[in-house]
Amino acid sequence: MHREDFPMLDGNIIYFDNGATTLKPKRVVDAMNRYYLEHTSNIHRGDYDAAIQSNLAYDAVRDIVARFVNCKSKEVIYTSGATYSINLVVFGYMRKHLHKGDVVLLNKAEHASNVLPWIKLQEEIGIDIQYIPLDENYEITFDNLVKVVTDKTKVISLAHVSNVIGDVRDVKRIGKYCRENNIIFHVDGAQSVPHMKVDFQDSCMDFLSFSGHKMLGPTGVGILVGREELLEEMEPICYGGGMNSFFEEDSSYELKSIPVRFEAGTPPIAEVIGLGEAITYLEEIGMDNIHKHEMDLKDYFLSRVKEIDNVILYNNNSESGIVSFNLEGVFAQDTSVYLNHYHICVRAGNHCAKLLKDDMPVQNTVRVSLYFYNTREEIDVLIEALKNSKDLFNVII
Ligand code: ALA
Repeated sequence: MHREDFPMLDGNIIYFDNGATTLKPKRVVDAMNRYYLEHTSNIHRGDYDAAIQSNLAYDAVRDIVARFVNCKSKEVIYTSGATYSINLVVFGYMRKHLHKGDVVLLNKAEHASNVLPWIKLQEEIGIDIQYIPLDENYEITFDNLVKVVTDKTKVISLAHVSNVIGDVRDVKRIGKYCRENNIIFHVDGAQSVPHMKVDFQDSCMDFLSFSGHKMLGPTGVGILVGREELLEEMEPICYGGGMNSFFEEDSSYELKSIPVRFEAGTPPIAEVIGLGEAITYLEEIGMDNIHKHEMDLKDYFLSRVKEIDNVILYNNNSESGIVSFNLEGVFAQDTSVYLNHYHICVRAGNHCAKLLKDDMPVQNTVRVSLYFYNTREEIDVLIEALKNSKDLFNVII
Protein backbone atom coordinates (compact mmCIF):
# COMPACT_ATOMS: atom_id res chain seq x y z
CA MET A 1 0.00 0.00 0.00
CA HIS A 2 1.09 3.59 -0.72
CA ARG A 3 4.54 2.62 -1.98
CA GLU A 4 4.64 5.63 -4.27
CA ASP A 5 4.89 7.88 -1.21
CA PHE A 6 8.30 6.44 -0.23
CA PRO A 7 11.22 7.58 -2.40
CA MET A 8 13.49 4.83 -1.04
CA LEU A 9 11.17 2.21 -2.52
CA ASP A 10 12.04 3.52 -6.00
CA GLY A 11 15.35 1.72 -5.69
CA ASN A 12 15.74 -2.01 -5.62
CA ILE A 13 15.68 -2.62 -1.88
CA ILE A 14 13.26 -4.80 0.01
CA TYR A 15 12.95 -3.18 3.39
CA PHE A 16 12.00 -5.61 6.15
CA ASP A 17 13.69 -3.78 9.06
CA ASN A 18 10.77 -1.68 10.18
CA GLY A 19 11.19 -2.67 13.83
CA ALA A 20 14.52 -0.83 13.81
CA THR A 21 13.23 2.21 11.93
CA THR A 22 10.74 2.83 9.15
CA LEU A 23 11.19 4.50 5.80
CA LYS A 24 10.01 8.08 5.51
CA PRO A 25 7.26 9.27 3.17
CA LYS A 26 8.15 12.33 1.14
CA ARG A 27 5.46 14.43 2.82
CA VAL A 28 7.16 14.03 6.21
CA VAL A 29 10.47 15.25 4.81
CA ASP A 30 8.63 18.06 2.98
CA ALA A 31 6.96 19.18 6.21
CA MET A 32 10.34 19.35 7.93
CA ASN A 33 11.90 21.14 4.96
CA ARG A 34 9.13 23.75 5.02
CA TYR A 35 10.18 24.60 8.56
CA TYR A 36 13.87 24.67 7.64
CA LEU A 37 13.50 26.53 4.34
CA GLU A 38 10.48 28.78 4.97
CA HIS A 39 10.11 29.59 8.66
CA THR A 40 13.19 28.54 10.65
CA SER A 41 12.92 30.14 14.09
CA ASN A 42 12.90 29.09 17.68
CA ILE A 43 9.55 28.47 19.34
CA HIS A 44 7.81 30.31 22.17
CA ARG A 45 10.45 33.06 22.12
CA GLY A 46 9.91 35.24 19.05
CA ASP A 47 7.19 37.74 18.05
CA TYR A 48 7.89 37.81 14.32
CA ASP A 49 5.90 36.02 11.61
CA ALA A 50 8.25 33.06 11.10
CA ALA A 51 8.31 32.40 14.86
CA ILE A 52 4.53 32.55 15.07
CA GLN A 53 4.25 30.12 12.17
CA SER A 54 6.66 27.75 13.94
CA ASN A 55 4.74 28.04 17.22
CA LEU A 56 1.51 27.10 15.49
CA ALA A 57 3.00 24.15 13.61
CA TYR A 58 4.82 22.85 16.69
CA ASP A 59 1.99 23.29 19.20
CA ALA A 60 -0.56 21.67 16.89
CA VAL A 61 1.32 18.37 17.08
CA ARG A 62 0.48 17.93 20.76
CA ASP A 63 -3.21 17.78 19.83
CA ILE A 64 -2.47 15.41 16.94
CA VAL A 65 -0.62 13.00 19.26
CA ALA A 66 -3.36 13.29 21.92
CA ARG A 67 -6.03 12.42 19.37
CA PHE A 68 -3.95 9.54 18.00
CA VAL A 69 -3.44 7.71 21.31
CA ASN A 70 -6.48 9.12 23.15
CA CYS A 71 -5.07 11.22 25.95
CA LYS A 72 -5.17 14.88 26.94
CA SER A 73 -2.86 17.30 25.08
CA LYS A 74 -1.21 18.35 28.34
CA GLU A 75 -0.32 14.71 28.98
CA VAL A 76 1.92 14.64 25.86
CA ILE A 77 5.64 15.30 26.46
CA TYR A 78 8.04 15.63 23.55
CA THR A 79 11.24 13.67 24.15
CA SER A 80 14.12 12.51 21.98
CA GLY A 81 12.73 8.98 21.64
CA ALA A 82 11.23 6.06 23.54
CA THR A 83 14.49 5.47 25.41
CA TYR A 84 14.50 8.97 26.84
CA SER A 85 10.78 8.67 27.61
CA ILE A 86 11.38 5.56 29.72
CA ASN A 87 14.35 7.20 31.46
CA LEU A 88 12.09 10.15 32.30
CA VAL A 89 9.52 7.80 33.83
CA VAL A 90 12.16 5.96 35.86
CA PHE A 91 14.30 8.88 37.02
CA GLY A 92 11.61 11.58 37.00
CA TYR A 93 8.74 9.74 38.61
CA MET A 94 9.86 6.38 40.02
CA ARG A 95 13.02 7.59 41.76
CA LYS A 96 10.83 9.91 43.84
CA HIS A 97 7.93 7.54 44.46
CA LEU A 98 9.45 4.07 44.90
CA HIS A 99 11.27 2.80 47.98
CA LYS A 100 13.69 0.05 48.88
CA GLY A 101 12.01 -3.34 48.44
CA ASP A 102 9.23 -2.12 46.14
CA VAL A 103 8.79 -4.62 43.35
CA VAL A 104 8.93 -3.63 39.68
CA LEU A 105 7.76 -6.37 37.33
CA LEU A 106 9.51 -6.61 33.99
CA ASN A 107 10.02 -9.66 31.73
CA LYS A 108 12.99 -11.14 29.94
CA ALA A 109 11.78 -10.24 26.46
CA GLU A 110 12.11 -6.50 27.13
CA HIS A 111 14.40 -4.23 25.17
CA ALA A 112 17.44 -2.78 27.01
CA SER A 113 15.69 0.56 27.30
CA ASN A 114 13.03 -0.99 29.52
CA VAL A 115 15.47 -2.92 31.69
CA LEU A 116 18.66 -0.90 32.19
CA PRO A 117 17.06 2.25 33.65
CA TRP A 118 15.36 0.01 36.23
CA ILE A 119 18.66 -1.72 37.01
CA LYS A 120 20.21 1.69 37.60
CA LEU A 121 17.33 2.62 39.90
CA GLN A 122 17.79 -0.66 41.75
CA GLU A 123 21.43 0.30 42.26
CA GLU A 124 20.40 3.75 43.54
CA ILE A 125 17.45 3.04 45.85
CA GLY A 126 17.16 -0.73 46.16
CA ILE A 127 13.97 -1.49 44.24
CA ASP A 128 13.38 -5.20 43.66
CA ILE A 129 13.24 -6.10 39.95
CA GLN A 130 11.37 -9.31 39.20
CA TYR A 131 10.60 -10.93 35.86
CA ILE A 132 7.18 -12.21 34.81
CA PRO A 133 7.82 -15.76 33.53
CA LEU A 134 7.41 -16.20 29.77
CA ASP A 135 5.41 -19.17 28.49
CA GLU A 136 6.71 -21.85 26.10
CA ASN A 137 6.25 -19.43 23.17
CA TYR A 138 8.30 -16.76 25.01
CA GLU A 139 5.12 -14.74 25.50
CA ILE A 140 3.48 -13.14 28.54
CA THR A 141 0.15 -14.58 29.61
CA PHE A 142 -2.19 -12.74 31.93
CA ASP A 143 -2.17 -15.74 34.32
CA ASN A 144 1.64 -15.76 34.52
CA LEU A 145 1.58 -12.06 35.24
CA VAL A 146 -1.03 -12.25 37.98
CA LYS A 147 0.76 -15.20 39.62
CA VAL A 148 3.82 -13.10 40.45
CA VAL A 149 2.01 -10.00 41.72
CA THR A 150 2.15 -9.48 45.49
CA ASP A 151 1.31 -6.54 47.72
CA LYS A 152 4.90 -5.37 47.18
CA THR A 153 4.33 -4.97 43.42
CA LYS A 154 4.23 -1.26 42.70
CA VAL A 155 4.96 -1.11 38.95
CA ILE A 156 4.47 -3.24 35.84
CA SER A 157 6.48 -2.05 32.88
CA LEU A 158 6.30 -3.90 29.57
CA ALA A 159 6.38 -3.48 25.83
CA HIS A 160 2.96 -3.60 24.19
CA VAL A 161 4.61 -5.61 21.40
CA SER A 162 7.93 -7.38 21.98
CA ASN A 163 10.54 -6.35 19.41
CA VAL A 164 11.78 -9.94 18.98
CA ILE A 165 8.81 -12.23 19.61
CA GLY A 166 6.24 -9.76 18.34
CA ASP A 167 3.57 -10.94 20.75
CA VAL A 168 0.88 -8.37 21.41
CA ARG A 169 0.43 -8.10 25.15
CA ASP A 170 -3.14 -7.66 26.37
CA VAL A 171 -2.58 -4.14 27.68
CA LYS A 172 -6.27 -3.47 28.12
CA ARG A 173 -6.69 -6.37 30.54
CA ILE A 174 -3.36 -5.76 32.27
CA GLY A 175 -4.09 -2.03 32.58
CA LYS A 176 -7.47 -2.66 34.17
CA TYR A 177 -5.89 -5.10 36.59
CA CYS A 178 -3.15 -2.60 37.49
CA ARG A 179 -5.64 0.19 38.07
CA GLU A 180 -7.76 -2.05 40.32
CA ASN A 181 -4.69 -3.12 42.28
CA ASN A 182 -3.02 0.25 42.59
CA ILE A 183 -0.04 -0.75 40.42
CA ILE A 184 1.53 1.81 38.11
CA PHE A 185 1.41 0.61 34.51
CA HIS A 186 4.04 1.76 32.03
CA VAL A 187 3.78 0.63 28.41
CA ASP A 188 6.60 0.79 25.90
CA GLY A 189 4.67 1.37 22.70
CA ALA A 190 7.67 1.62 20.37
CA GLN A 191 6.61 -1.46 18.40
CA SER A 192 2.84 -1.05 18.72
CA VAL A 193 1.91 2.60 18.27
CA PRO A 194 3.19 2.59 14.64
CA HIS A 195 1.25 -0.56 13.77
CA MET A 196 -2.11 -0.70 15.57
CA LYS A 197 -4.63 1.41 17.41
CA VAL A 198 -3.32 2.17 20.92
CA ASP A 199 -5.66 3.78 23.43
CA PHE A 200 -3.98 5.30 26.47
CA GLN A 201 -7.13 5.95 28.46
CA ASP A 202 -9.09 2.87 27.53
CA SER A 203 -6.12 0.64 28.48
CA CYS A 204 -5.74 2.41 31.86
CA MET A 205 -2.10 3.22 31.13
CA ASP A 206 -0.23 5.50 33.50
CA PHE A 207 2.69 6.07 31.16
CA LEU A 208 3.17 5.32 27.44
CA SER A 209 6.50 5.74 25.63
CA PHE A 210 7.15 5.64 21.89
CA SER A 211 9.49 6.91 19.16
CA GLY A 212 8.83 8.97 16.06
CA HIS A 213 11.29 7.24 13.76
CA LYS A 214 9.57 3.85 13.98
CA MET A 215 6.34 5.39 12.72
CA LEU A 216 7.46 7.19 9.54
CA GLY A 217 8.70 10.22 11.46
CA PRO A 218 12.21 11.57 11.88
CA THR A 219 14.83 10.37 14.33
CA GLY A 220 15.42 12.49 17.42
CA VAL A 221 11.82 12.82 18.55
CA GLY A 222 9.65 10.64 20.72
CA ILE A 223 6.73 10.91 23.08
CA LEU A 224 6.02 10.22 26.71
CA VAL A 225 2.36 10.26 27.60
CA GLY A 226 1.73 10.40 31.34
CA ARG A 227 -1.49 10.57 33.31
CA GLU A 228 -1.98 14.17 34.38
CA GLU A 229 -2.02 13.45 38.13
CA LEU A 230 1.28 11.57 37.86
CA LEU A 231 2.95 14.20 35.68
CA GLU A 232 2.09 16.81 38.30
CA GLU A 233 4.23 14.79 40.72
CA MET A 234 7.03 13.94 38.30
CA GLU A 235 10.38 15.79 38.48
CA PRO A 236 12.14 16.96 35.32
CA ILE A 237 15.46 15.22 34.70
CA CYS A 238 16.75 18.12 32.60
CA TYR A 239 16.68 21.81 33.55
CA GLY A 240 17.16 24.96 31.48
CA GLY A 241 15.36 27.44 29.27
CA GLY A 242 11.75 27.17 28.26
CA MET A 243 10.67 25.16 31.31
CA ASN A 244 10.97 27.75 34.11
CA SER A 245 8.84 30.77 35.08
CA PHE A 246 11.62 32.45 37.08
CA PHE A 247 14.79 31.85 39.08
CA GLU A 248 16.51 34.24 41.47
CA GLU A 249 19.90 34.89 43.05
CA ASP A 250 18.70 33.27 46.28
CA SER A 251 18.21 30.07 44.26
CA SER A 252 14.44 30.22 44.39
CA TYR A 253 12.79 29.19 41.17
CA GLU A 254 9.46 28.16 39.71
CA LEU A 255 8.86 25.71 36.91
CA LYS A 256 6.24 26.05 34.23
CA SER A 257 3.23 23.78 34.19
CA ILE A 258 3.13 20.34 32.59
CA PRO A 259 4.09 19.27 29.95
CA VAL A 260 6.63 21.98 29.02
CA ARG A 261 8.23 21.61 32.47
CA PHE A 262 9.81 18.45 31.03
CA GLU A 263 11.04 20.03 27.79
CA ALA A 264 14.09 22.11 28.73
CA GLY A 265 16.09 23.75 25.96
CA THR A 266 15.31 24.20 22.31
CA PRO A 267 13.26 21.16 21.37
CA PRO A 268 13.53 19.17 18.13
CA ILE A 269 11.20 21.57 16.30
CA ALA A 270 11.50 20.20 12.78
CA GLU A 271 11.24 16.66 14.12
CA VAL A 272 8.08 17.37 16.10
CA ILE A 273 6.53 18.91 12.97
CA GLY A 274 7.63 15.84 10.96
CA LEU A 275 6.11 13.53 13.55
CA GLY A 276 2.82 15.40 13.35
CA GLU A 277 2.79 14.94 9.58
CA ALA A 278 3.58 11.23 9.97
CA ILE A 279 0.69 10.72 12.38
CA THR A 280 -1.73 12.59 10.13
CA TYR A 281 -0.66 10.33 7.26
CA LEU A 282 -1.05 7.18 9.38
CA GLU A 283 -4.54 8.30 10.38
CA GLU A 284 -5.46 8.83 6.74
CA ILE A 285 -4.41 5.26 5.92
CA GLY A 286 -6.11 3.92 9.05
CA MET A 287 -4.42 1.94 11.81
CA ASP A 288 -6.81 -0.99 11.41
CA ASN A 289 -5.96 -1.20 7.69
CA ILE A 290 -2.25 -1.12 8.54
CA HIS A 291 -2.53 -3.90 11.09
CA LYS A 292 -4.69 -6.03 8.80
CA HIS A 293 -2.24 -5.67 5.90
CA GLU A 294 0.71 -6.64 8.10
CA MET A 295 -1.12 -9.70 9.39
CA ASP A 296 -2.05 -10.75 5.84
CA LEU A 297 1.61 -10.48 4.86
CA LYS A 298 2.78 -12.35 7.92
CA ASP A 299 0.30 -15.18 7.29
CA TYR A 300 1.50 -15.31 3.70
CA PHE A 301 5.12 -15.54 4.86
CA LEU A 302 4.23 -18.30 7.34
CA SER A 303 2.38 -20.27 4.67
CA ARG A 304 5.25 -20.00 2.18
CA VAL A 305 8.09 -20.58 4.61
CA LYS A 306 6.80 -24.13 5.08
CA GLU A 307 8.28 -24.84 1.64
CA ILE A 308 11.75 -24.56 3.19
CA ASP A 309 12.92 -27.29 5.54
CA ASN A 310 15.90 -25.56 7.19
CA VAL A 311 14.10 -22.54 8.63
CA ILE A 312 13.55 -22.51 12.41
CA LEU A 313 10.75 -20.12 13.39
CA TYR A 314 10.56 -18.80 16.92
CA ASN A 315 7.24 -16.97 16.96
CA ASN A 316 4.61 -18.48 14.66
CA ASN A 317 1.77 -17.39 16.93
CA SER A 318 2.35 -13.72 17.49
CA GLU A 319 -0.15 -11.21 16.17
CA SER A 320 2.18 -8.59 14.78
CA GLY A 321 4.30 -8.20 11.66
CA ILE A 322 7.45 -9.40 13.42
CA VAL A 323 8.95 -12.77 12.46
CA SER A 324 12.08 -14.15 14.12
CA PHE A 325 13.89 -17.12 12.64
CA ASN A 326 17.20 -18.77 11.88
CA LEU A 327 18.49 -21.00 9.14
CA GLU A 328 19.54 -24.27 10.72
CA GLY A 329 23.23 -24.19 11.61
CA VAL A 330 23.75 -20.65 10.30
CA PHE A 331 24.74 -17.69 12.47
CA ALA A 332 21.99 -15.05 12.27
CA GLN A 333 24.29 -12.32 11.03
CA ASP A 334 25.57 -14.53 8.20
CA THR A 335 21.97 -14.89 7.07
CA SER A 336 21.40 -11.14 7.09
CA VAL A 337 24.64 -10.52 5.15
CA TYR A 338 23.51 -13.18 2.67
CA LEU A 339 20.05 -11.57 2.31
CA ASN A 340 21.72 -8.24 1.61
CA HIS A 341 23.00 -9.79 -1.63
CA TYR A 342 19.34 -9.90 -2.64
CA HIS A 343 18.96 -6.28 -1.41
CA ILE A 344 16.79 -7.55 1.43
CA CYS A 345 17.17 -5.53 4.65
CA VAL A 346 16.58 -7.43 7.90
CA ARG A 347 18.05 -7.19 11.38
CA ALA A 348 20.10 -9.96 12.98
CA GLY A 349 21.29 -10.29 16.55
CA ASN A 350 19.73 -10.19 19.98
CA HIS A 351 17.79 -7.04 19.10
CA CYS A 352 18.80 -5.42 22.40
CA ALA A 353 16.62 -7.91 24.31
CA LYS A 354 19.66 -9.40 25.98
CA LEU A 355 17.83 -11.40 28.66
CA LEU A 356 15.78 -13.45 26.19
CA LYS A 357 18.69 -15.85 25.80
CA ASP A 358 17.84 -17.19 29.27
CA ASP A 359 14.55 -18.56 27.89
CA MET A 360 15.20 -19.08 24.17
CA PRO A 361 17.38 -21.82 22.71
CA VAL A 362 19.45 -19.22 20.83
CA GLN A 363 20.92 -15.84 21.53
CA ASN A 364 20.64 -14.38 18.05
CA THR A 365 17.89 -14.45 15.46
CA VAL A 366 17.10 -12.96 12.08
CA ARG A 367 14.16 -10.60 12.31
CA VAL A 368 11.80 -9.64 9.52
CA SER A 369 9.61 -6.74 10.62
CA LEU A 370 6.88 -5.73 8.20
CA TYR A 371 5.02 -2.52 7.47
CA PHE A 372 2.13 -1.48 5.29
CA TYR A 373 4.32 -0.71 2.26
CA ASN A 374 5.63 -4.28 2.09
CA THR A 375 4.11 -6.66 -0.45
CA ARG A 376 3.59 -10.37 -1.11
CA GLU A 377 5.98 -10.05 -4.06
CA GLU A 378 8.72 -8.93 -1.68
CA ILE A 379 8.03 -11.93 0.52
CA ASP A 380 8.30 -14.16 -2.57
CA VAL A 381 11.81 -12.78 -3.15
CA LEU A 382 12.73 -13.49 0.48
CA ILE A 383 11.40 -17.04 0.24
CA GLU A 384 13.36 -17.69 -2.97
CA ALA A 385 16.52 -16.31 -1.35
CA LEU A 386 16.03 -18.55 1.69
CA LYS A 387 15.43 -21.52 -0.61
CA ASN A 388 18.75 -20.82 -2.33
CA SER A 389 20.56 -20.49 0.99
CA LYS A 390 22.36 -23.81 0.59
CA ASP A 391 25.07 -21.79 -1.20
CA LEU A 392 24.99 -19.06 1.49
CA PHE A 393 28.66 -19.30 2.38
CA ASN A 394 29.75 -19.12 -1.25
CA VAL A 395 27.74 -15.95 -1.62
CA ILE A 396 28.95 -14.13 1.48
CA ILE A 397 32.62 -15.09 1.46
N1 ALA B 1 14.62 -1.12 19.08
C1 ALA B 1 14.93 -1.21 17.70
C2 ALA B 1 14.86 -2.63 17.20
O1 ALA B 1 14.24 -3.46 17.81
C3 ALA B 1 16.20 -0.57 17.36
O2 ALA B 1 15.43 -2.93 16.19
